[in-house]
Amino acid sequence: MNNTIITGASRGIGFDVAVQLARQGHRVLALSRDEENLKALKKEAGENLDYLVFDLLKPDARALLGKVNPMERIDVLINNAGYLLKKPFEEITTTDWDRAFGVNFFGPAHLIQILRPFLEKSERAHILNIGSMGGYQGSAKFAGLLGYSASKAALANLTECLAEEWKDRNVACNCLCLGAVQTEMLAEAFPGFDAPVSSEQMGGFIAYFATQGHRFFNGKVLPVSVSTP
Ligand SMILES: NC(=O)c1ccc[n+]([C@@H]2O[C@H](COP(=O)([O-])OP(=O)(O)OC[C@H]3O[C@@H](n4cnc5c(N)ncnc54)[C@H](OP(=O)(O)O)[C@@H]3O)[C@@H](O)[C@H]2O)c1
Repeated sequence: MNNTIITGASRGIGFDVAVQLARQGHRVLALSRDEENLKALKKEAGENLDYLVFDLLKPDARALLGKVNPMERIDVLINNAGYLLKKPFEEITTTDWDRAFGVNFFGPAHLIQILRPFLEKSERAHILNIGSMGGYQGSAKFAGLLGYSASKAALANLTECLAEEWKDRNVACNCLCLGAVQTEMLAEAFPGFDAPVSSEQMGGFIAYFATQGHRFFNGKVLPVSVSTP
């Protein structure tokens, strides 16, 4: 049984990962800003799941530690929350950059720093960052997604560097760069495109990889995609 924290659990992929992990018997702390959706998640997931209303742009470390302290150790941290910035480069404002990098890069980085002492208490912890094919070097790129893709590329790079910096500790760090998955974010990024993978299917894969992947991978940035986009 793993103690797991997942961000962006109010809908889409994060919701499905949280439900599947909780039903497998793992203890899950689910984070997002939307209390109503988190209550619905709790209903689906059952007694193994607890939640916290948490904004990655205004992280309340004290509230988070209030939930984490009783868990004593964290085995799996899934940085799944994401913000889609869709704008031509010349129109991107400072606020846009702050929001994209805030949710997709600084938020995960800060969370890892806050949770480090708890991750180090695990026999073998796994930090799993959810990246994007847009931030995967050499992949197809799409106009209007530069800000989003750059922030996801930064998250992928953090993954590689952190794994190196912490290679002598009991904490592994990997990044899955997702291709198209049918969610609200995909509909906004690519209107009308039908993704070949459902949120539930990707949720199942991520739940599996989060609990098993660190036995075989560390510091890896892995494409998980069957389509373009
Ligand atoms: N769907 C795809 O095709 C696809 C492709 C590549 C990568 N991804 C990545 O996969 C992950 C999940 O994507 P998805 O498609 O499931 O997205 P989604 O349906 O749009 O859900 C995004 C999640 O991020 C959370 N979030 C956004 N801003 C936040 C903030 N300031 N503080 C806390 N939480 C915040 C949202 O929660 P609240 O609004 O409740 O706070 C929500 O739960 C993301 O990292 C995304 O970039 C998705």
